[in-house]
Amino acid sequence: MSQSSSGIFGWWLCSHGEKWRSFRSKVQRPILQPQTVKKYVAPIETVTEDFIKYMENARDENGDLPHEFDNDIHRWSLECIGRVALDTRLGCLSSELTKESEPQRIIDAAKFALRNVAVLELKAPYWRYIPTPLWTKYVNNMNFFVELCSKYINEALERLKTKKVTSENDLSLLERVLKSEGDPKIATIMALDLILVGIDTISMAVCSILYQAATRGPQQEKMAEEIARVFPDPSKPINYGDLDKLHYTKAFVREVFRMYSTVIGNGRTLQEDDVICGYHIPKGVQVVFPTIVTGNMEQFVSNPLEFRPERWLENDGRLHSFASLPYGFGARICLGRRFADLEIQVLLSKLIRRYRLEYHHEPLDYAVTFMYAPDGPLRLRMIER
Ligand code: HEM
Repeated sequence: MSQSSSGIFGWWLCSHGEKWRSFRSKVQRPILQPQTVKKYVAPIETVTEDFIKYMENARDENGDLPHEFDNDIHRWSLECIGRVALDTRLGCLSSELTKESEPQRIIDAAKFALRNVAVLELKAPYWRYIPTPLWTKYVNNMNFFVELCSKYINEALERLKTKKVTSENDLSLLERVLKSEGDPKIATIMALDLILVGIDTISMAVCSILYQAATRGPQQEKMAEEIARVFPDPSKPINYGDLDKLHYTKAFVREVFRMYSTVIGNGRTLQEDDVICGYHIPKGVQVVFPTIVTGNMEQFVSNPLEFRPERWLENDGRLHSFASLPYGFGARICLGRRFADLEIQVLLSKLIRRYRLEYHHEPLDYAVTFMYAPDGPLRLRMIER
């Protein structure tokens, strides 16, 4: 892969204008349709059940999860997104992975990509002029991802040759994009971006949500009661429509995003001069909408320091609907948001239905990196209900 073509990674996230619009228009419809997401309820549920088994086995004698539990959450999100973007189980939740196994290499490659993209993007970009060692390693790492995606996309292409298709509904997301676009490169870019954008965001969000649930007993119990009411028989598969009935659970998640916005803000570069709040801002200036600040402003939320999920279920008081804006807004709003919501809701429904989460260690501070999440070992305790 050459220096210029390697821009395939983050191509989508880092591209702008017509190039971005043209690509987004090709994949937006299939990704965002509720009927697409509905198809992934059962696969995400299966992955999540495997994750809970993995957690059960990883606990120590007190029921505490290991120091590196946040890494395990990354494995779960990788496994979920592999199922969505590549129609496969990547095998990242296996507890016996050798260093050379494909799942372990995927986990390592994802970690490397996520940790280093910020270094390349935000520090002096010497790599634009000469291939620095980090850049070269980064490109090789991306080549591994491209090969991985190509392998599963070729399998999907083979499958499509013999698959009986009577309507779009018979196709997976990947198959649908392959069929409608007729260009495997589009499917490769889609899969790569979904994988690379859809691991860290959801993992950090889930770390935050589980930590808040474990340290807020009464609110967790309210979620547990609601989940038990909506899903009385835990052995029955989850029905997509029933997830809509988890009003309090969804409000809890919304409140976590309000107080601790995982993605700290959204940026835009002005394409023309504009006036914002009376200030004249010239074209070319980068404007940031800091969700981490606005979600905690008295102007938009009454008693912002109070963690109160109920506020999202009531219709009184001061509460701006943008006070919780985890997925951004407008034309570039998060493309994976329906999958992210599904993954969070399925995980909470399965986990809190069976286990009470507690936390018995030093309180964790939140750290701002690219994102905002609890900083330190997430040693949650799982107690069977
Ligand atoms: C709770 C988890 C997540 C959060 C908080 C989150 C948040 C965001 C935010 C704030 C943006 C930028 C929006 C803007 O600029 O207005 C974004 C973009 C994006 N997200 Fe997510 N996201 C999450 C999960 C996911 C997942 C699971 C996927 C993949 C399945 C995904 C795929 C994307 C993509 C592809 C974009 C770029 C969209 C574009 O520029 O056209 N996200 N996300």
